[in-house]
Amino acid sequence: MAADTTTATAPDPRGSGAGAPVLVIDEVGKRYGGVQAVDGISLTLHAGERIGVIGPNGAGKTTLFKMIAGDVIPTSGSIQLFAKDVTRIGAARRARMGVGRTFQISNLFRDMTVLDNVRVAARGGSAKARVFWWPQRANDAVSNRAIDALAQVGLHGRRDDIVSDLSHGEQRQLEIAMALVGEPQILLLDEPAAGLSAVERVTLKQLIEELPAPCRSCSSSTTCRSPSASPTASCAWRTDGT
Ligand SMILES: Nc1ncnc2c1ncn2[C@@H]1O[C@H](COP(=O)(O)OP(=O)(O)O)[C@@H](O)[C@H]1O
Ligand SMILES: [Mg+2]
Repeated sequence: MAADTTTATAPDPRGSGAGAPVLVIDEVGKRYGGVQAVDGISLTLHAGERIGVIGPNGAGKTTLFKMIAGDVIPTSGSIQLFAKDVTRIGAARRARMGVGRTFQISNLFRDMTVLDNVRVAARGGSAKARVFWWPQRANDAVSNRAIDALAQVGLHGRRDDIVSDLSHGEQRQLEIAMALVGEPQILLLDEPAAGLSAVERVTLKQLIEELPAPCRSCSSSTTCRSPSASPTASCAWRTDGT
């Protein structure tokens, strides 16, 4: 993924671009040994904007998202969140600053209910959070937040179902609910439409378009040929020359 092939298209009409940017990526690169996974990418995200990151497999989309989330430290360049340099700050602190995300590879607890998955995410997402030894009042607050997040993604009616009974598309919706329950300011969706049917992509597109305004999204996709493949890409960064 190289900077000279990076392309931007029309900005989201809902994102005025006004005010300080919430995310500034400046000439960021990541090298793994002999592999330059990301090479000098720059982009800026303002309040309310949605950005699509487009490129084929291996182009560096996931690596870029990992650098924004703090899982991977860049080997060059810098990242600012809310006007603070976070280039060397880890994922937990960035999550507390308001970075929410879904993963390219699903990390659901498939033997638990839909609601319990979101409750786990609301408590920080670790497997330890599956132990429910919390005071009742705290449990109620967490459950209410989890139910709200499920309502936002249209899964309110499936909250007592076991995750393995959900369709692939519904599991993707659940992953978004698990990100939303942390009330993120920036939402990173890594290939949210991967493996979905055409109908499921339409549902996902609507869901992402209706996300609350404070939640700015950034979505990766392997192609820009079909709008449905890149549901949030009102502003597109191409990650290679294709
Ligand atoms: N942990 C890693 N170690 C070594 N190489 C990696 C690692 N993660 C990604 N890569 C390489 O970096 C390149 C970009 O990968 P990735 O970010 O997963 O691309 P994409 O998400 O666009 O498919 C690929 O060549 C991949 O093999
Ligand atoms: Mg990827």
